Amino acid sequence: MTLPRVFVTRRIPEEGLRLLQAQCAVDLWTEPLPPPRAALLQRARGAHGLLTMLTDRVDEPVLDAAGAQLRVVSNFAVGYDNIDVEAATRRKVPVGHTPGVLTETTADLAFALLLAAARRLVEADSFVRAGGWRTWDPTGLLGVDIHGAALGIIGFGRIGRAVARRALGFGMRVLYHSRTMPHPRQFAGCTPVPLDTLLSEADFISLHTPLTGETRGLIDAAAFERMKPSAVLVNTARGAVVDSQALYAALRSGRIFAAALDVTEPEPLPADSPLLQLDNLIVTPHIGSASRAARGRMARMAAENLLAGLRGDPLPHCVNPQVYASA
Ligand code: NAP
Ligand code: GLV
Ligand code: GLV
Repeated sequence: MTLPRVFVTRRIPEEGLRLLQAQCAVDLWTEPLPPPRAALLQRARGAHGLLTMLTDRVDEPVLDAAGAQLRVVSNFAVGYDNIDVEAATRRKVPVGHTPGVLTETTADLAFALLLAAARRLVEADSFVRAGGWRTWDPTGLLGVDIHGAALGIIGFGRIGRAVARRALGFGMRVLYHSRTMPHPRQFAGCTPVPLDTLLSEADFISLHTPLTGETRGLIDAAAFERMKPSAVLVNTARGAVVDSQALYAALRSGRIFAAALDVTEPEPLPADSPLLQLDNLIVTPHIGSASRAARGRMARMAAENLLAGLRGDPLPHCVNPQVYASA
């Protein structure tokens, strides 16, 4: 019996790779950088399954290159804005993702960024290393308080709620906004508000929506205009939810106090980006889910989605279950 052929676009943790190698002919891209477009198109050809990263654009040409025998696309991420899901659905190809297993890990990072930006940790560390620490300074490196402050969460889903739980433990008030508002009684201490209210009343704003047509550029110049001058923006969602130029202007002019980004537009952020000249900005290289344990769980889940798709079983975590509706 010939094994199904799968293309895995980067080396993923062993927990997932082992499962695949036991049951498939695995074509593994082992370079440190993602497959260039031409290589993705070429290696997709004839594959029964694709295990892709958020750095791979999986669109019509990739699905066409793979061909009619393609049974599943499994994304090694919870977000799937890199995939043309409608194009996959038209071809009856189920798309898998990794919800839940990275929720707490990503919320930890969002909260770490919030704390670091508020208390200027990165700037303070650089100051010490540069020899700037000559004495205790009564007015040096002053930040903003976290306890007692209002945190506004935009996108009150799995990760947004996990961030809210952390915030309550730190004595913050929590405001939240999603398109469909869960009943406030479900979330003691958290208050649903319209987006404009959240933008103007929050001391900290943390983004947790997916990137969609609606959320692209959601935080634009007009949104920054509404924010308090003491506001801190944290983005662990997707870079394009924030208008980078408007962010630069708001940080540069002191329109807001600080920002911390785990995701940027473009990504990676070029080393010569003007944003990196700003002291009131912290940038991490998209490491929200980057704990050993979380990446191991994601690898296993992505492999399980892929294997289910190859067998013709419903994916345990599918973003387009419409593919299973009988025609
Ligand atoms: P989730 O459970 O689906 O939560 C997303 C929330 O956003 C939902 O509650 C959704 O509620 C809300 N939403 C969608 N469109 C909205 C809009 N236009 N305005 C306001 N709210 C909106 O997803 P999750 O697991 O929390 O993950 C969220 C995102 O985080 C992922 O899509 C991914 O892009 C990002 N992420 C990043 C990292 C990282 O490494 N930095 C790690 C994991 C995830 P409604 O549909 O009711 O509005
Ligand atoms: C990471 O950004 C993810 O969507 O899992
Ligand atoms: C600071 O270290 C203080 O004792 O207030």
